[in-house]
Amino acid sequence: MRSFYITTPIYYVNANPHLGHAYSTILADAAARFHKIQGEKTLFLTGTDEHGDKIVQAAEKNNLAPQAFTDEISGRFRQLWPKLSVANDFFVRTTSPEHVRAVQDFLQRVYDAGDIYFGEFGGHYCYGCERFYTEKELEDGLCPQHQVKPAFISEKNYFFKMSRYLPWLRQYLEENSDFIRPARYRTEAIAMLESGDLEDLCISRPKSRLTWGIELPFDKDYVCYVWFDALLAYISGLGWPDGKDFAQFWPGEHLVAKDILKPHAIFWPSMLKSAGLPLYRHLNVHGYWLSNDSKMSKSLGNVVDPLETGQKFGIDAFRYFLLREMHFGSDAGFNERGLIRRINSDLANDLGNLFSRVLSMADKYFHGKPALCQKYRAEDQAVIDLCRESLLNYIQLFNEMRTSQALEALWELVRALNKYVDSEAPWKLQKENNFEALGVVFQVLLECMRKIALCLWPVMPEASFALLRQLGQQVNENEVPCADIEREARFFEPFANASPLATASRLFPRLEMPEDPAHEATAKKKAENAKSASAPAEKTGEIDIDTFKKAEMKTGIIRLAERHPKADRILRLEIDFGEGKNRQILSGLAEYYEPEKLVGKQVCAVLNLPPRKIRGLVSEGMVLTAEDASGVKLLAVDGEVAPGSLIA
Ligand code: MSP
Repeated sequence: MRSFYITTPIYYVNANPHLGHAYSTILADAAARFHKIQGEKTLFLTGTDEHGDKIVQAAEKNNLAPQAFTDEISGRFRQLWPKLSVANDFFVRTTSPEHVRAVQDFLQRVYDAGDIYFGEFGGHYCYGCERFYTEKELEDGLCPQHQVKPAFISEKNYFFKMSRYLPWLRQYLEENSDFIRPARYRTEAIAMLESGDLEDLCISRPKSRLTWGIELPFDKDYVCYVWFDALLAYISGLGWPDGKDFAQFWPGEHLVAKDILKPHAIFWPSMLKSAGLPLYRHLNVHGYWLSNDSKMSKSLGNVVDPLETGQKFGIDAFRYFLLREMHFGSDAGFNERGLIRRINSDLANDLGNLFSRVLSMADKYFHGKPALCQKYRAEDQAVIDLCRESLLNYIQLFNEMRTSQALEALWELVRALNKYVDSEAPWKLQKENNFEALGVVFQVLLECMRKIALCLWPVMPEASFALLRQLGQQVNENEVPCADIEREARFFEPFANASPLATASRLFPRLEMPEDPAHEATAKKKAENAKSASAPAEKTGEIDIDTFKKAEMKTGIIRLAERHPKADRILRLEIDFGEGKNRQILSGLAEYYEPEKLVGKQVCAVLNLPPRKIRGLVSEGMVLTAEDASGVKLLAVDGEVAPGSLIA
């Protein structure tokens, strides 16, 4: 049996868990569950990183001894995960005796191999990052992460000869294009190696300065640098060196956000190589969640509490939103309106509606026991083919951690099934007494819905079981609902149910969209402006035809679409307006459209707006869109017209 081992970062215990921690952990959970439904044996590890200055300072602030403080916060992380339907197999604490033993063993091996030396070192030390910075790495003399002036510290310390492994690592990254994914982070790691800024790694702290750490096995006056200690949690948690889990599950997959690329892409492979251990399989790097467009921070008061939000909207819906909304590798924005919009469009409208209408019709026409028939007509076969294609895409994309695109692929099927209901109109077939066609349509619908419910287990475990139960499937919450999802994708077998179908389904009710505070503010301002203006037309908000005609609006065809390199919600479009040269227009469509799918699309745009610069790129116009609770859609023309056609 194939095995799959996945880790989250080992989180610092200096603050409570927030949305960012919850996302990494939910994604790792979904990946582990996904490998389970592929029939693999999985192990999923998370945990807490408890040593170092940062923790001591936080403990002091709370008037607690470091151990008591770390016990408390580590407990909060550990207790949170099951409440978010996260089923980790192991929770590692870097203060546990097993971890301490493994770190000391590892240090001794690297020391014996001649890769650790003692030397004098002076450097700029940032307490926030718990690391030394070189002169070059500082920005205007400040730590680039914390924007504070680091302390200059000169002392004798132990160093890991990392420089010895950098040329090898560089070649390894060149030769293994998906070792770090998505590719942009591999490129970033290669740039770090090329910069010449990397040196040997200082891996000790003198006890005279810090005692809260793991003592070096070869010098009692020093403790281990917190990163060298923490990275080893990935293997100490498997019982390295001789635990059987290590033999079975290593090498594994790591999942981190972009903030800790360097220790994972550079330090960790060098450490493993030095100790003669196999490298991890992949480093999977995701972006940052921004809360209302800014980095989450206590001082801005925009830190999102994952449990509170999950309980408010439902844990499954919250997990769905996180995994659907963030494109793997890019940043994503969190706000409750976006969450509600997504729940309403995908869960209430598409999925919820499908289950509710099919089950209530099955009840009405067959009293929950449909007479199923397998004489597929062309229109039924088309849906069966789409089911196969969409599930295979789902599997491939999920395996690459591209959960957003994977769910989009699955939703192509959900939406197609709703259309199939519309076009086949079972109510008409019933009226016409066409029971054969009715039997086929329900056969196709129910079997596709069963497969969809199975696919959703990694994302929404409880909802998946609930949907399967509604379809009369025998489920046991303590077991994995499927042993071979690829087989489910490839073969379309007759639908079978052990118990009667549910008569109704209302898993995801529509949510009320609250007023948009930003919208309200602009509306108020507009109203005030209108009040103070003297022209009667302005009072009513009307414009005259000449004003309207001033807008130069034309149709165009998108020739190129890609993500803005510095703004995750924006797409850079090159559009052909028949002007001989494409125009560059930037548009906030990234949340709603895959760039690849936009190329060739006809759009409507306003062209005579003043050019606007967005994060270094200039936009020469505005693409027109329409927005409702389900999201933003491009304005379309009814039929094809030549690029540059005037809109009036
Ligand atoms: N202790 C180190 C990791 C050691 S791993 C051997 C550490 N801890 S941390 O508590 O700061 O966690 C950082 C991780 O938390 C990120 O890599 C990411 O997984 C998650 N996130 C924290 N804030 C985040 C966002 N705003 N958005 C997304 N994830 C982020 O670094």
